[in-house]
Amino acid sequence: MLIAKNLYKSYKNREILHDVSLAVKAGDFVSIMGESGSGKSTLLAVLAGNLAPDSGTVLLDGQDLAALSERDMAALRRTKLGFVYQSLNLIPTLTGRDNILLPLYLGGKRAGDAAEKLNELTELLGIAGVFDAFPAEMSGGEQQRVAIARSLLYDPAVLMLDEPTGSLDSASTRQVMELLTRINRELGVCVIQVTHSREAAAYGNRILTLVDGRISAQ
Ligand SMILES: Nc1ncnc2c1ncn2[C@@H]1O[C@H](COP(=O)(O)OP(=O)(O)OP(=O)(O)O)[C@@H](O)[C@H]1O
Ligand SMILES: [Mg+2]
Repeated sequence: MLIAKNLYKSYKNREILHDVSLAVKAGDFVSIMGESGSGKSTLLAVLAGNLAPDSGTVLLDGQDLAALSERDMAALRRTKLGFVYQSLNLIPTLTGRDNILLPLYLGGKRAGDAAEKLNELTELLGIAGVFDAFPAEMSGGEQQRVAIARSLLYDPAVLMLDEPTGSLDSASTRQVMELLTRINRELGVCVIQVTHSREAAAYGNRILTLVDGRISAQ
């Protein structure tokens, strides 16, 4: 599904990723751990094609991300990749519903075009209650679930999340992790999460740890 080979990335002579290789197979739920500053967000950005490595390759379904034109990359990102940023990137002036449907609006479509999908996601994520609320009126867990719903709008094959439970208490953490487990098992989406939490990491079927730019399986 997603194969990374011999990735290197440095910032100002400081090596952040050193010969990182990994393979994510269909059905995988992978947790990436490591100390703050160890390069987790950098690795996720490279895997998602948001950041070019200094060397090495990332293949998504056999496609070399570096070989794609900007247009093809955008199309691939829309159809195959879901990404939930550490900062969530919810728009404060839009309701929950409109935040979820934002990718649709950006593509020039209307809410009605995704009515069925929206219902399915609402049920799965249990977020009907925040449809008309603005992000500031939602709990951290609700904001996280709205951001996840948005990333699933186009049925991605792989969902990447950067610290999905970074600011959540343990009850909300469990709730979000159980959701990711259902997304992984019921929708068949590969999940790759970066996390500091051992509890959250344990929901994955594999845990990878970044230390000194190198990755090791645990
Ligand atoms: N654009 C950039 N320019 C220069 N240095 C950067 C840049 N982005 C990240 N870094 C540095 O690379 C290192 C790894 O950053 P990264 O964000 O990947 O860490 P992280 O493991 O995600 O940390 P955290 O757990 O705090 O989110 C850090 O030391 C950071 O300062
Ligand atoms: Mg980070």
